[in-house]
Formats: sequence, C-alpha cells, structure tokens
Amino acid sequence: MNDPAKTATTAEPLHPLLAERWSPRAFDPEHQLTERQTTALLEAARWAPSAGNSQPWRFAVAHRGTPAHAGVLDALDRGNQVWAHAAAALIVVAAQSVTADGATRPWAAYDTGQAVAHLSVQAQHDGLAVHQMGGFDRGRIATLLVGDGTLTPLTVVAVGRRVDAGRLDETLAARERATRQRLPITDLLLSVRPAPVPDRS
Ligand SMILES: Cc1cc2nc3c(=O)[nH]c(=O)nc-3n(C[C@H](O)[C@H](O)[C@H](O)COP(=O)(O)O)c2cc1C
Repeated sequence: MNDPAKTATTAEPLHPLLAERWSPRAFDPEHQLTERQTTALLEAARWAPSAGNSQPWRFAVAHRGTPAHAGVLDALDRGNQVWAHAAAALIVVAAQSVTADGATRPWAAYDTGQAVAHLSVQAQHDGLAVHQMGGFDRGRIATLLVGDGTLTPLTVVAVGRRVDAGRLDETLAARERATRQRLPITDLLLSVRPAPVPDRS
C-alpha cells in the first residue's frame, strides 16, 4: 500500500523501496506474519555486511498472541504500546557487543543497525511495514532475553501490515498523516581538512 503523501521528496529519483518506506503506527490487528515472511526478514538481516564479518546482531521474534509478545509489549514505553500492540510481531534487536573471550566489538551497534536497515527494505518489498522503537525499558528487555549476558538490547521493531490512519486516535492519526521531513543534504556534508604539506626543508 503505497502512500504518495509519505513518499520521500528527493533531488534525484530513489529506488521505490527506499523512497516509499516509512514508519507507520496503524497496523492491522488481525494480520499475522507467515513463517516464510519471518524467515525472509531474518535472511535480509543475516546478509548485511559487518565489521570483520562478525555478525553481532541477534533477534528475538515475538508474534502477537504469544506470552513472549506480552512480555515485550509490556516493556515498551506507554507511547509506543498504544499503537505497537497491533503489529503482527515485535522483534527485539540486540547486539553481541562483547565477544566470548571478553573483547569489545566497537562496531556492534553500527552493524546491527545496518542489519535492521536490510530487514526494513525486505519488509517493504514484501508488503510489510516496519517501525523501529528505542522507547522501551532496557533492563526489562534484557531480562527477557535468554542469552549469556553479552547482549545489548538496541531496539524493538514492530512489523506488520499497515492499515489506514483512521484506525488510530486523532493525535496519532495526525502524526501518521504528517509529511516526512529530513535535513537537506547540505546540512549533512562535512569538509575534510587538506593533508598538511610535508616540510621538505
Ligand atoms: C533507533 C530508533 C529508535 C526509534 N524510536 C522510536 C520510538 O520509540 N517510538 C516511535 O514512535 N518511533 C521511533 N522511531 C522511529 C523514528 O521516529 C522514525 O524513523 C523517524 O521519525 C523517521 O520517520 P520515517 O521512518 O517514517 O522516515 C525510532 C527509529 C529509530 C531508527
């Protein structure tokens, strides 16, 4: 379901999967992810690049209606719970930021974000919508994850089928219909200082 009002305005045309992706809050509360859809999302994440091919990303998929989902939903900030409950799944995204022998992985969060970007594009391709959330109780989510204590929860990702904003209350519906904004490219560009001229005297 493409929404022209939400499509990115760009100086040069982008691939539609990128231009038309956005983060909705109105999800179909009847929709469930199939096993194949879930696998495709995880495959997209799995094949992201990472520093030294370290693949520090880890995912816990909680499908709506399961006890795991109830626990993850409960750990979200209230402002996220009010809409994220309807998504077909909540995926806890964590990074293994320390190796088994205790060495830190400086790029773990960077790599894991990149894996979620891959997942998001695959979701867009498969007619699914993704909304990432940083608003949750990290301590509670950490205790929900079965692991060896080296996991750093980074985000919870709502995935499902988008529906019309009219399903939301007026405040959320207004945010849902708002035009997407970005900084201009000129604000993103940095300058690199020229290399110092070697002193040959
Ligand atoms: C790391 C991260 C944390 C986010 N946390 C939240 C959140 O807690 N609640 C929320 O509604 N949206 C959250 N978002 C969604 C952003 O607000 C959204 O991506 C941004 O406004 C750009 O909108 P767009 O994705 O529709 O282009 C988060 C996104 C990212 C990447």
